[in-house]
Amino acid sequence: MSCAPRNARKRSRPVRAGNGSSPKAITSIRKVPMMNKKRVTVPEVMAAKGKRKLTMLTAYDYPMALLVDQSDIDMILVGDSLAMVVLGHEDTLSVGMDEMLHHTLAVSRGAKRSLVVGDMPFLSYHGSIEQAVLNAGRFLKEGRAQAVKLEGGARVVPQIKAIVEAQIPVQGHIGLTPQSLAQFGGFKVQGKTAEAGAVLIEDAQALTEAGCFSIVLEGIPAPIAAMITDAIPIPTIGIGAGSHCDGQVLVIHDVLGLFDRFVPKFVKQYVRLGETIREALTRYREEVENGLFPGPEHTFSMDDQEVAKLETGKRKKPRDAARIR
Ligand code: KIV
Repeated sequence: MSCAPRNARKRSRPVRAGNGSSPKAITSIRKVPMMNKKRVTVPEVMAAKGKRKLTMLTAYDYPMALLVDQSDIDMILVGDSLAMVVLGHEDTLSVGMDEMLHHTLAVSRGAKRSLVVGDMPFLSYHGSIEQAVLNAGRFLKEGRAQAVKLEGGARVVPQIKAIVEAQIPVQGHIGLTPQSLAQFGGFKVQGKTAEAGAVLIEDAQALTEAGCFSIVLEGIPAPIAAMITDAIPIPTIGIGAGSHCDGQVLVIHDVLGLFDRFVPKFVKQYVRLGETIREALTRYREEVENGLFPGPEHTFSMDDQEVAKLETGKRKKPRDAARIR
């Protein structure tokens, strides 16, 4: 007969695995669909023009990269928007190479199918051409990305040519390029006049000739984006550039409703995860405060007899308690 106290007996139901012999694993692993698909390649992205719409989202870490990859998104951009939506900076200017590489490598570990594009941060390609090539190369060598993206039109053609010459695929980025914030005087739609639109079309042509495999068009009127898309043989990936582009890209925190400091007009929030997370965390806090979490199902137990031995031992003198082992 056990001499364990009543409450000890109640809480000490042993946790057993299916065969009743070994303890249950501490964690439970949820199965996710196994994507046994090959990685999207740069030539495939280029060949998609005029055949199917391309999809691209940003990601900055391993779990999000896994989810984007498992959703069959063609490209993952490790954007310098990292600075704002993950690191809490005011704009994208403060993020550097080391932070970008750190996050690119985490994304690359999660992305098995999506093509990973590393975003070259402010001042990483503005000095010498040699510095631009070496920094671009670090995204492939250290970040395990398959391509890089950099902002600017005709003025960055020498850098792009040299990077492409080094066998590193480059995605261009024109329009409302956030690294030019100071020059633009804020996040303002670009190319709204015929003259400004013409410059953007020339920029897109210059980037195409320099060897870019695609170009992001950000924050420009839809008619200009459509003219560029029709004028160049490489895919245009729009963000706030209308539906005629060859593909679309969005910042994942915007898509999931995880960043609400401001929500640009071109963003569609497909879910409001921020609210869902806040609700879940509030419930967690309340349950801990009210003693409802952890419940029996989250608690490790031990055999009644072992508890009883300990309880009995506790009542004896320390020397006797040692003997009962
Ligand atoms: O950094 C970024 O997320 C970007 C996209 C907005 C295209 O450059």
